[in-house]
Amino acid sequence: MPTKHNDISLFVIKEQDITPKLDRAIREMLVVCFPADREYYQRQSFWHSPAVYRIIGKNDKGSIVAHTAIVQRAVIIGPALSKVRVAGIQSFCVLQDYRSMGLSNKMMSAAMDEGSRRSLDAGLLFCREQLEKVYGGMGWRKLDTAVYMTDDKKGKNLIPSRNITMFYPLNAKQLPAGDIDLAGTDW
Ligand SMILES: CC(C)(COP(=O)(O)OP(=O)(O)OC[C@H]1O[C@@H](n2cnc3c(N)ncnc32)[C@H](O)[C@@H]1OP(=O)(O)O)[C@@H](O)C(=O)NCCC(=O)NCCS
Repeated sequence: MPTKHNDISLFVIKEQDITPKLDRAIREMLVVCFPADREYYQRQSFWHSPAVYRIIGKNDKGSIVAHTAIVQRAVIIGPALSKVRVAGIQSFCVLQDYRSMGLSNKMMSAAMDEGSRRSLDAGLLFCREQLEKVYGGMGWRKLDTAVYMTDDKKGKNLIPSRNITMFYPLNAKQLPAGDIDLAGTDW
């Protein structure tokens, strides 16, 4: 059953259940919310890493007005190389006309509830500094630790310095101390 937020219904959708039609509708919405990445989202509906599930908000006409894609990854933390299974937040957005009514908070709750249902240890996201307050209000905490990603071009390197890293407790109430290795690309 979808969760209702005023007239917006939130759906948890497994990636394998995303039809080509739904994928197109998601891409059309992402292009509007992330105009700088228009060319990218015209081609594909996920950022650097494929999603495992998504939260989609639809209005009463069935149009998508809110979206986030969730990546699942076992990241490696600290000198003990502890494996931590995270829900990585990607392409988190709400259409302009539906902002400032708390919809993003409901969408994040749905994303983290599903992460908890999947027994994941934590949420992990990367964002610009100015969004710290927005995500902080949803229970996320900024992490002051080095985060490494690996890609084909540069190998293992720090994530872009323009981004901060934020953490949300699920099974793990805090993360082990030490650097985080994303064990792959960022998302
Ligand atoms: C970020 C975003 C999802 C928040 O959605 P929302 O539904 O407006 O969220 P809320 O209703 O919970 O409002 C959150 C608060 O954050 C503020 N906020 C939103 N975007 C912000 C930004 N880029 N910088 C600073 N504050 C911002 C809003 O003004 C609002 O404050 P208010 O309650 O005092 O009005 C939405 O602004 C959006 O889609 N932005 C474009 C895509 C994007 O940048 N996504 C984040 C990728 S990391």
